[in-house]
Amino acid sequence: MVYLYLLATFLFVFGIKKLTSIKTCQKGNKISEFAMLLAIVTTLVTFSNLSWGVIVAGLIVGGAIGVAIAKKTPTTQMPEMVAALNGFGGCASALVAIAFMLIDETLKDPAKRLWDTGPVNAISTPATILIGMVTLTGSFVAYFKLGGKKYAHPLKGANRHALHAAIGLAVLLLAWWQIATGSHVQMSIATVLITVLSAALGVLLVMPIGGADMPVVVSLLNSYSGVAGATAGLVIGSPLLVVVGALVGTSGLILTQIMCKAMNRSLGNVLLGGMGEETVAKDAKDYKSIKSTTPEEVAMLLDGAASVVIVPGYGLAVAQAQHVVRELGDLLGKRGCNVRYAIHPVAGRMPGHMNVLLAESDVPYDHLWEMDSINSDFKNTDVVIIVGANDVVNPAAREATGPIAGMPILDVDHARTVVVIKRSLAPGYAGIKNPLFDMDNCLMVFLDAKEALEGMVKEVKELAK
Ligand code: TAP
Repeated sequence: MVYLYLLATFLFVFGIKKLTSIKTCQKGNKISEFAMLLAIVTTLVTFSNLSWGVIVAGLIVGGAIGVAIAKKTPTTQMPEMVAALNGFGGCASALVAIAFMLIDETLKDPAKRLWDTGPVNAISTPATILIGMVTLTGSFVAYFKLGGKKYAHPLKGANRHALHAAIGLAVLLLAWWQIATGSHVQMSIATVLITVLSAALGVLLVMPIGGADMPVVVSLLNSYSGVAGATAGLVIGSPLLVVVGALVGTSGLILTQIMCKAMNRSLGNVLLGGMGEETVAKDAKDYKSIKSTTPEEVAMLLDGAASVVIVPGYGLAVAQAQHVVRELGDLLGKRGCNVRYAIHPVAGRMPGHMNVLLAESDVPYDHLWEMDSINSDFKNTDVVIIVGANDVVNPAAREATGPIAGMPILDVDHARTVVVIKRSLAPGYAGIKNPLFDMDNCLMVFLDAKEALEGMVKEVKELAK
């Protein structure tokens, strides 16, 4: 069995390595899927006395549920699905530790304390329940927030931090009690209380996080789910679970750090749950000099443009306009226009969201430009077409205060003309006004992105005749 564990571990690492490139990521996914299958079957055969029939039936039922959910989920809801899966991961790890506490026969002996099972095991048990439950409830709050629900924390400022610290301290004391007592009843009471308090902490930590900061939280919860898996592996003595959990935990933490850098947030703040408040500005739709235009007029503008930058955002995903945006880019490219796509690291609702969408429509990878590479070139750009993006191009980020203050943005306002395609003057995810829409060089096309782009394609073709 140990060789199968080693093989699964190697395949996980190899699969993750392949995920680092667009060309090999699908193969990486398949390799990791196979590694997961191998790991599940090996673990069940090693740790349980289930028959092969039950194992195969479980794989079929579980696999069918997974396939059905994945098929039913549109790409726009992928972030919610990722948040839910993080939550289930945390829940599974917490259940492993809870089950160990409640049913392990050695702990029922009054002469035995949790500490007697070994210090690593003893400390990992309450740690797994804490991290697993925080991941479960935090991820489900994130799930609902990603779906548009708003929640307000009952406390503000220092009181809020004091409440979180008090719950953390209570969990620590209960963990000490759970580890030191010989009474199985007291151990069980401590287990239940740690579970409940950790669940409450998860809700309270994620509740106040402002809309624009959600990407950091989701990747952090992903990391927590890995850490909970690793500590659960220590509880039941599974090296495979320790390795895989550590892989997820560290890669999630690296992603969180990349996100923090992209959003100009400190990791310390994120870890303590002290990021921005949830706010929807009262003046979010309060504009003075909006200039609206039509796809036909934009096509004429594009006819004279030598350089065009397309900025995709969440609305591109909602409208499923990735194929038509590529068609427009190709048409302009054929006319000799320099067409590039500018990708903001948190555009959309999940890391790499825009890259995935544009890869789906076969936009050549070298046409995608990251924010840092393209920002200095907006001043030399004739037309920027913003397709359903808002927060990632909002110059309010350059102000000293506000929900997106300090977040690096795509400097689209430096271009000669900016065309914004969106359906209304509604704010983006951060819920604030976008001063770009009032600027002299900005034109608005108030349509669904797909409809607007199809209109532009039609007109560009007409003009080329
Ligand atoms: P947003 O700021 O959310 O703006 C999207 C815009 O798309 C909206 O203003 C909406 O305006 C428009 N839109 C929606 N459906 C449309 C459609 N069918 N056709 C045309 N336009 C449509 O998006 P963004 O600029 O991509 O910024 C992403 C935001 O999400 C950031 O605040 C980021 O922090 C946050 N976030 C990101 C992630 C990750 S990891 N990427 C995860 C969670 C949260 P109308 O309603 O007027 O059309």
